[in-house]
Amino acid sequence: MTDEPVTSRRAFLAGTAAAGAGLVATAATAQTAPDPLITEVQPWASAFGDPVDATPYGMPIRFESHVVRRNVEWLTESPVSSINFTPIHALEGTITPQGCAFERHHSGAIELSKQDYRLMINGLVERELVFTWDDLMRFPRHIAIAFCECAANGGMEWGGAQLEGCQFTQGMIHNMEYTGVMLRDLLAEAGVKPEGKWVYVEGADASSNGRSIPMEKALDDVMVAFFANGEALRKEHGYPVRLVVPGWEGNMWVKWLRRIGVYDQAVESREETSKYTDLMPDGRARKWTWVMDAKSVITSPSPQAPIRHGKGPLVITGLAWSGHGKIARVDVSVDGGNTWVPARISGEVRPKALTRFHYDMNWDGQEMFIMSRAIDETGYVQPTKQALREIRGLNNVYHNNGIQVWWVRADGEVENVEIA
Ligand code: MTE
Ligand code: CO
Repeated sequence: MTDEPVTSRRAFLAGTAAAGAGLVATAATAQTAPDPLITEVQPWASAFGDPVDATPYGMPIRFESHVVRRNVEWLTESPVSSINFTPIHALEGTITPQGCAFERHHSGAIELSKQDYRLMINGLVERELVFTWDDLMRFPRHIAIAFCECAANGGMEWGGAQLEGCQFTQGMIHNMEYTGVMLRDLLAEAGVKPEGKWVYVEGADASSNGRSIPMEKALDDVMVAFFANGEALRKEHGYPVRLVVPGWEGNMWVKWLRRIGVYDQAVESREETSKYTDLMPDGRARKWTWVMDAKSVITSPSPQAPIRHGKGPLVITGLAWSGHGKIARVDVSVDGGNTWVPARISGEVRPKALTRFHYDMNWDGQEMFIMSRAIDETGYVQPTKQALREIRGLNNVYHNNGIQVWWVRADGEVENVEIA
């Protein structure tokens, strides 16, 4: 294995425990034999490390090479119209590094240079305009942290617990800090006519992924972004320019943005009529379900992140978010939903952005059914999957924000289950 550490895992753990003064007593393992990691001079202290410039653009250390996006091959026919998943089980904090943020393309990730980039605004405007990259650089810049969740996140779980790993059940989400210009500033430059009630946004890729956005949202917090987490957007996230539509389903976040059409009504694109509607049990469909309702998931322990350290202090960690605003509270249950305790919110709570929660407990080594539920500032409480099915039936793919249950076995392994 390429990511095998220099010393054995066992020696490493013993070393951590010995050095772990200040840890709760039960977390530390008693030190019996002398630990060479403490008593011996190690290779990394006896020779030079890498010089600067060994990797001009840095990559994660090889021991973290398992923390990568993964796809599920049988889900889609072709990898150019497909999806992969953010390794949320292995990440902490709230910001998703671009390199492991899920990708969703309908016709592959295209390579479009800044020189070849053009953005057109046409339709019901006083002046039809075409912006170059340099033109966009001259508009006032703004920063926004926002989650982007594909409407299909959790979609495979409508029928029941299916995929082992929160990367696969909930990983069609990422959260980045964007820098860009406000769409309202570009629209003001073009001058929206009074009849202009909708914008139709489309990308430069073959699929174009056209979507209609009501003018009210377009003039509110929609951003035309070119930086993510401090650097240029990656190709797969829409380089050089993508739309950021805070709180709304990922499909509206058009990548490689090439045109903004202003119209008096919604343009029915292929995307909207055939997809991104929620089919109900009676054959009717929910449409224009743009806002992502509050949701949360425990990221660890989870099937890909089992408990290896045995009973005693256990850190439960997870993510919560709401497209309607801020997360107000996250509750955790370790007994299958019989009792709920508020988790600790770590770091800042921002509207329409991922929020990290922690729940510190003492595990007795018995099996547990662990789950979290998000409550947002509107008072909305994340429902169970069963409650959602009762309203929307089983013919659905999109907008599954039901509670995720993990079964933690006594040996620390974790499975995706549902509680009847
Ligand atoms: N924009 C274009 N031009 N083409 C696409 O295929 N996919 C959409 C949206 N924007 C898509 C697009 C979908 S369904 C989602 S969920 C998000 O992009 C995913 O963004 P990401 O690939 O940066 O994660
Ligand atoms: Co999507």
